[in-house]
Amino acid sequence: KNLRIVTILGSLRKESYNKILLQAIADKADQKWDISSADISELPLFNQDIEADGDPEAVTTFKETIKQADGVVIVTPEYNSGIPGVLKNALDWGSRPGNSSVFMNTPVAIAGATPGGAGTALAQMQVRQTLAAMNANVMSHPKVLVGGVQNKIDFDSGRIEDSRTISRLEDFVHTFTSFVEMYQQSSKAGQ
Ligand code: FNR
Repeated sequence: KNLRIVTILGSLRKESYNKILLQAIADKADQKWDISSADISELPLFNQDIEADGDPEAVTTFKETIKQADGVVIVTPEYNSGIPGVLKNALDWGSRPGNSSVFMNTPVAIAGATPGGAGTALAQMQVRQTLAAMNANVMSHPKVLVGGVQNKIDFDSGRIEDSRTISRLEDFVHTFTSFVEMYQQSSKAGQ
């Protein structure tokens, strides 16, 4: 295991489908990624007054976790055709102070699951747009857009059992591994 991959989950729900999807990604990456998760549930609502008094501990921990990552994987639901507020809040904290975002030059991959049909495409587009504002380096494909997720889970094991989804996840993990490695090589070459 050589790549330090930090995961961010855009749902705080205990029985989250996206948590199950993240677990399936982690299972596929078992040999290659040293995975840790960034906790966004304790971040206060972003407020420049709080920031002016110094970052609260949860913010400092979050920023440090992202800074130390070789790559970040964001797995998120879609709320009202867009990015969930808790995730946007975390990305906003990570973007500060301006021009020194902790996501700067960081390879990021996005995935999402929904019982709906469109697989969180609109939420992922907004995550991508937000990260572009911070000079993150977002992988474009393969996209992981898991629609009808409740039909792809075996509720006895609590795992994704759909073979097409699983092979998509293998491709996602494999491609993101290369994406991060390629990025490390080119940034070293540029130093
Ligand atoms: C949703 N949901 C939803 N799904 C979707 O595909 N597109 C959408 O725009 C929305 N909008 C939306 C708004 C709000 C406020 C909620 C609470 C939910 C349904 C959503 O996909 C479903 O609740 C998932 O189960 C949420 O993901 P987790 O928590 O299971 O990971």
